[in-house]
Parts: sequence; structure tokens; C-alpha cells
Amino acid sequence: MVSTVANVFDSSIAPKPFLKWAGGKTQLIKQISQFLPKELNNGSIKKYVEPFIGGGALFFWLAHNYQIKQLFISDINTDLVLAYKTIQYNVEELIELLLDFETKYLSLNQNERSKYFYHIRNNFNYQRNQIDLVKYHEFWIERTAQMIFLNKTCFNGLFRVNSKGEFNVPVGKYKKPSLCNPENLKVIANILQRTEIIQGDFSKCEDFVDRNTLVYFDPPYRPISKTSNFTSYSHQTFDDYQQLRLHQFFKKLDKKNAFILMSNSDPKNHNIDDDFFEKLYSGYPIEKVKASRFINSNSSKRSQINELLIMNYSIQVN
Ligand SMILES: C[S@@+](CC[C@H](N)C(=O)[O-])C[C@H]1O[C@@H](n2cnc3c(N)ncnc32)[C@H](O)[C@@H]1O
Repeated sequence: MVSTVANVFDSSIAPKPFLKWAGGKTQLIKQISQFLPKELNNGSIKKYVEPFIGGGALFFWLAHNYQIKQLFISDINTDLVLAYKTIQYNVEELIELLLDFETKYLSLNQNERSKYFYHIRNNFNYQRNQIDLVKYHEFWIERTAQMIFLNKTCFNGLFRVNSKGEFNVPVGKYKKPSLCNPENLKVIANILQRTEIIQGDFSKCEDFVDRNTLVYFDPPYRPISKTSNFTSYSHQTFDDYQQLRLHQFFKKLDKKNAFILMSNSDPKNHNIDDDFFEKLYSGYPIEKVKASRFINSNSSKRSQINELLIMNYSIQVN
């Protein structure tokens, strides 16, 4: 693998997502880990696949805690995939640029910060069609640094784009945002050395999956109503048609005897009669775990809601 990854990194550091991502699973790892297949412990699971990678909370946790030989991650979001590939290829230069951005930003007053933010945002949007994910280019570093900068300094720290694919979150008011934790990025870069990173639809992982593979699906939440798409990460929504496609794909990988785990927000949180997932995945074990989440775009309040975990294997909860 082509990389200038730091040879010196502290493997005792538990890696954490380098981006704040809508639907991120950091808070749920402990609960999800109770429903992982026991074959992870005896080494018979040799591959891990996460085709809706987002911020990668579970991916980093698993890669750090288990000896899994081959890792595969993908996402439809081109900028997100570019960020993972940049860290894989040249984490050192990325860290340097992020630290430059951070020093500059922290030296500015609020008014200047706002101008700087919108300058970077315009630049980021202007260059959005120039990404070549195949061939490494210096541009990867600049764009990834801009993306991380926007994610860490924007309002609520969300990556959200409009229908034209433009990042449209306004500036935030964090006093001392940290753009980069160099040690964390180096540990992540090290994990990514044994990771295949692909941009595209979830179905692209099919050939990688076999009977020794654990697949974790964490698709975008099923929209509650036509106006509830405030968490959209890309301009395509993950509607019921997409959920049906994913269900077909789940069954296909089930036939390959892979271990499959899927997260979904429970539609019953909003409509007690909505049994969409129970019907779709009838015959498969479905567990409920509690998640703490912002319930709508205007609310600053968190509330406890149920999250579904759907599996194709049986579990003994620890
Ligand atoms: C709920 S988030 C995943 C969050 C992640 N588990 C975490 O911990 O941060 C869902 C992800 O699915 C991606 N996505 C949406 N549609 C997709 C598709 N058709 N194929 C692959 N990825 C898709 C989005 O870009 C988003 O990053």
C-alpha cells in the first residue's frame, strides 16, 4: 500500500471517529458489542465489512479490539471516502495542514472566524466536482483538511449538503474547537493500512463478503415524514425503496452464510403502529437498545429512543 503513514504511533490509544457524523454510533458501542457474534472471539471471523461507514465508530472500535485480518469500508459520500483515503495515504501532511488551520482559526475574533469559515466553505463547494478518488493528488490533503475544518467549526458539527451537493451548514460558535488529534489520526491511519476503502452504493461490498465475514449495516434513518430529512449526509435520501433494496441484499449475504448485523432507528418511536422493519425482517432476531438522540432539527434537547438491531445469527447476551 502506498503510504507515508507515521511509523511511530501508539497502538494503546483507542481510536475514535475523526468527524462528528449524523447517526454516529459512539454512544451505542457498549450496547451493540453485546450483540456481536461470538465467532469474533475465537478468530473464525477474518473479515469485517461496513458499507455505510459514516464516522466509523464501530469500525474503529472493532479494528482496535479484535484481530480481524481484512477490513472493508465504503460510503456513498465522496468527500467522506476521500477523507478516509487521505488519512490512509498521507496522514502526516494532513496533520500539518490541520494544525495550521487550527492555529489560524484560534487567532481570529468571532467576526473574522465567520469570514474565514465562509471563505473555506465557498472554496470547498466550488471545487466539489474536481475530486479524483483513484489517483492520489496533493489536492486530497487540502480538501480533507477543509472538510474536517468545516465539520469541527460549523453549527452543531454536522456534515449536511443541499440538493446541489453543496455543504450548507452555517458557522458555529465553539470557543476553542480542536481540528485534529494527531495521535488519534495516526492510529486511524495505521488501521486503514489494512482496509479497502471504496466509494459507492452499499451493494459494492458483495464480492468481498464470504462465510468468515461480519457485515455491519448502519443505513441512514428512515425518514419520518417528507420534511424530516434534516440529517441528510448526501443529496440522496434513503427512502423505503432503498430499505427494500437493502433487505434483498441482506438476504443475499445471508445465503453466503456471512454474519450480518444491522442498525435502524425504530419507527415506533414516532408511530407505535409502524412495524415496517418487524415485517421486513420477520424470521430474523430483532433486539431493541436505547439511544439518546436529538429528536428534531430545532430541538436542543436529547431524548431516549429505541434503536433496532437486526441479526441473522443467534446471540447469548453477556
Ligand atoms: C447512519 S450513517 C452511518 C453512521 C456510522 N455508523 C457512524 O458511526 O458514524 C449512514 C451513512 O450511509 C451513507 N449512505 C447513504 N446512502 C448510501 C448508499 N446507498 N450506499 C452506501 N452508503 C450510503 C451516508 O453517506 C452516511 O454516511
